[in-house]
Amino acid sequence: YKRITTKSLIEMKSNGEKISMLTAYDYTMAKIVDTAGVDVILVGDSASNVMAGHETTLPITLDQMIYHASSVVRAVERALVVVDLPFGSYQSDPKEALRSAIRIMKESGGHAVKLEGGKEIKESIKKILNAGIPVMGHLGLTPQSIYKFGTYSVRAKEDEEAEKLIEDAKMLEKVGCFAVVLEKIPADLAEKVAKSISIPVIGIGAGGGVDGQVLVIHDMLGMNNEFSPRFLRRYLNLYEQMTTAIGQYAADVKSSDFPNSSEQY
Ligand code: KIV
Ligand code: NA
Repeated sequence: YKRITTKSLIEMKSNGEKISMLTAYDYTMAKIVDTAGVDVILVGDSASNVMAGHETTLPITLDQMIYHASSVVRAVERALVVVDLPFGSYQSDPKEALRSAIRIMKESGGHAVKLEGGKEIKESIKKILNAGIPVMGHLGLTPQSIYKFGTYSVRAKEDEEAEKLIEDAKMLEKVGCFAVVLEKIPADLAEKVAKSISIPVIGIGAGGGVDGQVLVIHDMLGMNNEFSPRFLRRYLNLYEQMTTAIGQYAADVKSSDFPNSSEQY
C-alpha cells in the first residue's frame, strides 16, 4: 500500500475525494479497519466509553491512550493513525501539551495528535506543531467539555457560538493543523466551514457537506444497542449476532455438542 499522510488528506480535499475515518483501539480491530481501506484511524478517547465503560471521556489517562495507540500502530500498514490527547494532558499550558504529544509520538508510534478546542488552546497547538507533530483540531460538541455543556445535544445552533466556531476553524487552518473534526453541529454551518478553509473537515453528526466522515467503530458495527443518535448509521447488528453466537457456544458446551470428534486430537 501507499501510506496515507497528512499531505494525501489535503490533496483528497482539493481533488474532491471524500475522506473515510473510523476509530480503533486495539490491534485486531485496527487490522480489519486498515485492510478494509479506511483512510484515517482515530485512536479516540472514546476508548474511555467503549473500551473501559466510563460514562464520559474524562477518566482515560495518557498512559492508557498510549497503550491503545501502540496496539493500533502495530496493525496498520496504510491508514494515517491519529491519537487523541486525553483530558488533563494538555489544558494546563503549552509545555504540558507538548510533553504529552511527544509521549504519544515516541511511545505509540502514532502519526498525529488530536486536541479539542479553539483559541483557548492556540498556543499549545502551535507549540506541538513547532515540534514537527501534525495536529488535527476538534470543534463543536467536544466531549471533554461535557460538564460545561451539560448535555450531548447539537452545538452552535445560535449565531454567537457558530461565529466562534468559524473563527476557531480558520485559526486552526492558519496555525497549520492538517484537518479538523466537527462534531454534532448543524449541517449548513459545517458545510460553510468546509468551504471556507483549505484543510479537510471531517464530520460526525455534521452532515454531508464536509470533506469526510468519522464514526466510532463499535457504534457503526452495532455492538452497542443503547446509543442511537440520528447521525449513526449501523452497518451491522453485531450486538445481536454476537449474543446469538456466544449463546450458541454456551449451549453447545452444556449439551456436549462441542467439541465433536473432528474438533479434538
Ligand atoms: O474519541 C473519538 O471517538 C472522537 C471522534 C468521535 C471524533 O473524537
Ligand atoms: Na475524542
